[in-house]
Amino acid sequence: MRILFFDSLSSTNTYLKKQTPLTPYLGVVAKKQTKGVGRLGRPWHSSENSLIFSCTLPAKKNFFQVGFSVAHAVFLTFKKFHANKSFQFKWPNDIYHNGKKLGGILCEKEKNMLIIGVGLNLNQEEFPLDIQDKATSFYLVTQKKVLTSYFAHVFLKNIILSYQELEENPELFLKNHITPHLAWVGKTVKVDFENIKEPLEGVVKGIDSSGFLMLKTDKGIEKLSTGDLKLWLQP
Ligand code: BTN
Repeated sequence: MRILFFDSLSSTNTYLKKQTPLTPYLGVVAKKQTKGVGRLGRPWHSSENSLIFSCTLPAKKNFFQVGFSVAHAVFLTFKKFHANKSFQFKWPNDIYHNGKKLGGILCEKEKNMLIIGVGLNLNQEEFPLDIQDKATSFYLVTQKKVLTSYFAHVFLKNIILSYQELEENPELFLKNHITPHLAWVGKTVKVDFENIKEPLEGVVKGIDSSGFLMLKTDKGIEKLSTGDLKLWLQP
């Protein structure tokens, strides 16, 4: 494994996609991105003091579950940096603390290789007023600042280990490492599917042994493989 560091890139995911040959376990960190990409093709804006990170992994059989191993690697790395706080996983790809987003994961596939992109709020001391109630950072949660380059090395190691563990026994992996962190269990949410289908409303029941979200709706339990969850606050 090795990591390349840049001052600025259009997107660390796009940078990796353009490499030939594309080798596994290569990490990329940029201080700034001019065209960051989020899930569902949305733009991704990261403020200063974020970790902007991508890496390659060999593609194995279950693309859908890879994000879970990356989320576990985030939790492991936070622990290594002495965070004695609990962090949540907002299905299917977000890292949260107490209802505020700390980071997001974007998994893509390119030429038999996975491109894993992660944006994490690490050292921000504050956020603009309009997102203060939605965003937080590792620093704001723990009062600890981290050296981004060191964090990136520990994180890449953890991603590789976590991905191997997922491959060995996906069911056990989800039960031990994801279910305990799952956000909004028992809460009513609205799930949006972009323009693919009508939104759904229901109560989050958990994830099944494959990682599908189980949502209890009027029509019974729906198992979802994609979607964008929003807390449905009763008036
Ligand atoms: C999300 O939609 O929540 C996922 C966001 C992923 C953003 C990261 S930042 C590093 C990498 N490069 C990108 O262009 N996107 C990912």
